[in-house]
Amino acid sequence: MRFDIFTIFPGIFQGPFDESIIKRAIAAELVDIQIHDIREHGMGRHRSVDDTPYGGGPGMVMAAPPLFDSVGSVLGDALGTLPVILTSASGDPFTQVIAEELSLEPRIAILCGRYEGIDQRVRDHLVTREISIGDYVLTGGELAAAVMVDAITRLIPGVIDSESLAEESHTAGLLEYPHYTRPNEYRGWTVPDILLSGHHAKIAEWRMKQATELTRQRRPDLLDKLNHHLKDL
Ligand code: ADE
Repeated sequence: MRFDIFTIFPGIFQGPFDESIIKRAIAAELVDIQIHDIREHGMGRHRSVDDTPYGGGPGMVMAAPPLFDSVGSVLGDALGTLPVILTSASGDPFTQVIAEELSLEPRIAILCGRYEGIDQRVRDHLVTREISIGDYVLTGGELAAAVMVDAITRLIPGVIDSESLAEESHTAGLLEYPHYTRPNEYRGWTVPDILLSGHHAKIAEWRMKQATELTRQRRPDLLDKLNHHLKDL
């Protein structure tokens, strides 16, 4: 799978993909993440990528030409056949379901929004989908893009061990059950007996109960979603 990320701050991506699981996935050629500097297609002598808004008002707006040129030059004929995602606080909320859908694509382009806004013609004629990673406002879309790439990449077969993904699908839509490791007593705090019992079926049942109870307490909205989903099946 290949990601093409378009940004005016490529330096932000030094780090998130250079450690741990994503780094290994890149080394194993399970994923290819290319960062493209929009400013290479900036306008005029200063290679500017933004301008003041028509109609007045504060701030700057990312201009259409550098974005169309940058994306066009990288994607070429592939443009029109693959998702072009804009990170935006007004986008569809990013979820595990969207991460799963996107993990099936062979290639995805992500445009990182910046400043107060982006010329509407980019949204109307270049972008296929706008995605938000949560109801808060970031200074720009770079961290949102890194979050999406991380969540999508870990779902690509071979990136993390299939047992972990299978376990996750068991409790899909629920919060995580509690985990423990050695020592079995620490500062007088002990590990639940059931986990030391060796009864796999009972352990699975305990974990499911814990996950359900935690979800009921903290995120009842997730349980409602799950119930609707089960009714639809
Ligand atoms: N850009 C600014 N805020 C954002 C958010 N919450 N998600 C995605 N992109 C953004």
